[in-house]
Amino acid sequence: MTRCPGPSYQDIIDADAAAPPAVLRETSTDSLGAHDLPVDVYLSADYVRREAEELWPKVWQIAGRVEDVANPGDSFVYDIGENSLIILRTQAGELRAYHNSCLHRGTRLRDGAGSLERIRCPFHGFTWNLEGDLADVPCRWDFPLIEDDAFHLPEAQIDTWGGFVFVHLDPEAAPLEDYLEDLPRHFERWPLEERFVAARVERRVTCNWKIAIEAFIETFHIIGVHAANLPFFGDANSQYDVWPDQRHHDRMLNASGVPSPHIRHEMSDQRAIDIAARFGMVEPGTQVPEGATARSVMVEASRKRITDSTGVDTSGFGDAEVQDVIQYSLFPNIVLFGGLGSPLFYRARPDGDDPNSCLFEVMLLQPIPEGAERPAPAKRRWLEEHEKWGDVPELSYFGPVLDEDQDIMPRVQRGLRASRRPGISLGVYQESRIRHFRRTLEEYVPRAESD
Ligand code: FES
Ligand SMILES: [Fe+2]
Repeated sequence: MTRCPGPSYQDIIDADAAAPPAVLRETSTDSLGAHDLPVDVYLSADYVRREAEELWPKVWQIAGRVEDVANPGDSFVYDIGENSLIILRTQAGELRAYHNSCLHRGTRLRDGAGSLERIRCPFHGFTWNLEGDLADVPCRWDFPLIEDDAFHLPEAQIDTWGGFVFVHLDPEAAPLEDYLEDLPRHFERWPLEERFVAARVERRVTCNWKIAIEAFIETFHIIGVHAANLPFFGDANSQYDVWPDQRHHDRMLNASGVPSPHIRHEMSDQRAIDIAARFGMVEPGTQVPEGATARSVMVEASRKRITDSTGVDTSGFGDAEVQDVIQYSLFPNIVLFGGLGSPLFYRARPDGDDPNSCLFEVMLLQPIPEGAERPAPAKRRWLEEHEKWGDVPELSYFGPVLDEDQDIMPRVQRGLRASRRPGISLGVYQESRIRHFRRTLEEYVPRAESD
């Protein structure tokens, strides 16, 4: 497949002092075509309804982190469209996902998170124990037909991988292990279950949830949205991997510490380091020694920063694992990061039935300091419309970058609504993950012939 002239991502990591692991040597492209993709999937209320029927009830989705329900009684509510689940840990230590609706007259049972002894409906007080068994019915004499067995709280499937709680609304669905395909093998070196939630921030973004996901799965947009990073980010060198037999995940590898092909002829190693220092990525005044490169200098700085901030010894990791963006999608709405350099997590969810709005969550998943106990997970911070990602100090230098993305996503949504074109035209290589995402989406939610 045609890609940017000049060094490939593989050429760049060939020159690294500490070699990359085998998983970063894998490459795969799938021929997904070059045709335009229809835009109605971002705009139509009817498509939101069809996703509610044909997508969300048929996928394994991440509800939260295992550490959110570490102890018996811990609980939180996961809402997806009109569906809502109470995720909790029972007294016996098992995870459960109960549909968040009272079996008396349907009231929403719980909001938010909390430690529970029982689940008590706020309307008339019907009560269930944590095992989902009916425990109390006020004025029981008035309900002669209620049988306890039939009033067990209905459950969704629940499972875990990578320290995440996954749920599936269909009790008959195939197991999570099948759904994840080859993804767990890719993360063997970066066990996300051994991370903790160092920051968790969520906000409303006025775009379709798919626009939000698609805004993060290519680096083609660096030249437009994050141009200040071009001196030390090899945007067009990026590798995009779509495996023909893997529907639910794909990947990109972005080299950091090398200048963008857009500007490499005007960028010396020292100048790149001087600019990186302004972003706090290396110490001010850092010099590139004879025989070194901007990348090797930034790798050393990253190793030191990671060790200082997390206590992790990076000596067993390749340069690419501490420096580069190693990013995977998990269908439909998750972006996960491998390696140590970008310990991020993104999730986009629909916002009720509005095609023009979504809920976007960012987590920082940091390694647990060596020998230390798992720190308590950060509480979710909700950002109001006027607040910025950059207002959250725990997000460090990722916050201002997210604000640049935040500005563009609603512009895409608004622009699409003003468009007279029925489709969007994607780059064949750099936007291949978007095409892959849309192909899998269409397998779940086919567009009607007349759409
Ligand atoms: S609706 Fe829940 S107890 Fe009446
Ligand atoms: Fe971005």
